[in-house]
Amino acid sequence: MSITVRAAAKINLHLGVGAPRPDGFHPLVTVYQAVGLCDDVTVSSSPGWTLGVTVPDWIDADAVPVTGDNIVDRAAALLAAHHGLPQHAAISVEKSIPVAGGMAGGSADAAAALVALDRLWDAHTSDDDLLALAAELGSDVPFALIGGTALGTGRGELVEPVPDTGTWWWVVVPSATGGLSTPTVYCRFDELRPDAPAEPAGAGDLLAAVESGDPERLAETLHNDLQEAALDLRPDLATLIDLGESHGALRGMVSGSGPTCVFLARDADDARRVAGGLGAEGHPVVLVANGPVAGAHVVTRA
Ligand code: C5P
Repeated sequence: MSITVRAAAKINLHLGVGAPRPDGFHPLVTVYQAVGLCDDVTVSSSPGWTLGVTVPDWIDADAVPVTGDNIVDRAAALLAAHHGLPQHAAISVEKSIPVAGGMAGGSADAAAALVALDRLWDAHTSDDDLLALAAELGSDVPFALIGGTALGTGRGELVEPVPDTGTWWWVVVPSATGGLSTPTVYCRFDELRPDAPAEPAGAGDLLAAVESGDPERLAETLHNDLQEAALDLRPDLATLIDLGESHGALRGMVSGSGPTCVFLARDADDARRVAGGLGAEGHPVVLVANGPVAGAHVVTRA
């Protein structure tokens, strides 16, 4: 038997970050949106355990953690332990989400692996248990399970869907010069914002904009508290954001902890125009994606 599960990249439409908690994590008020850039995880019956990763030519294969240290291995080990099952399967991950890019590609792979292995092993994990296992794997993994547009609190792992009447068009520009480590960006945030409040900035205006479906209104309310830290580490991103806006994007921003930058466009045609403009300026990889899209879901079963 072979099962393929697809999971999407995320954008943080709002990322409010508070002062670090005693456990080192930062309290968040975030609004996630799943966008149509997806990784596919295929699992097949096998007596042993193998993991292979394929990447398009614009993703650096060496940037993907190797077997044993990949979040997919950890997801499998956790699910197997939860059910007292042996960890056996042949897994292949086909990546299209930028690696170490601030779009939760690893989290998408973990969520997809949980769903795929649950089906392969006929484990019938409850939704609540899947969400709890996902939260153990990483702050963004529960969102990758549910997809759509959702409010995230806690360290980002407590997720609930929110009303969203829009179809939002995004231009996505992965970094051509390597990723940024999430802990490094949070550390720089702590240095730059020693007076960060315990309570992160609320998302009320943004939630109203998402519910309205109006892209101009969403553009005005997009918010990322990690952007300052990401731009401090990668000043070239500020130039990129200006460039995207000069080509007609309603608003550009760093995605999560970066360095991928995302640009909100008015509609699909505008997105293609902005993407064309950035491509003509010499950016080698410029993608167009719309959101919201579904969380981790089975696409083939054979
Ligand atoms: O939860 P996840 O494993 O994705 O987090 C990776 C790192 O990002 C953490 O070890 C921590 O340094 C940082 N982080 C944080 N606060 C959050 C989420 C992540 O400080 N809410």
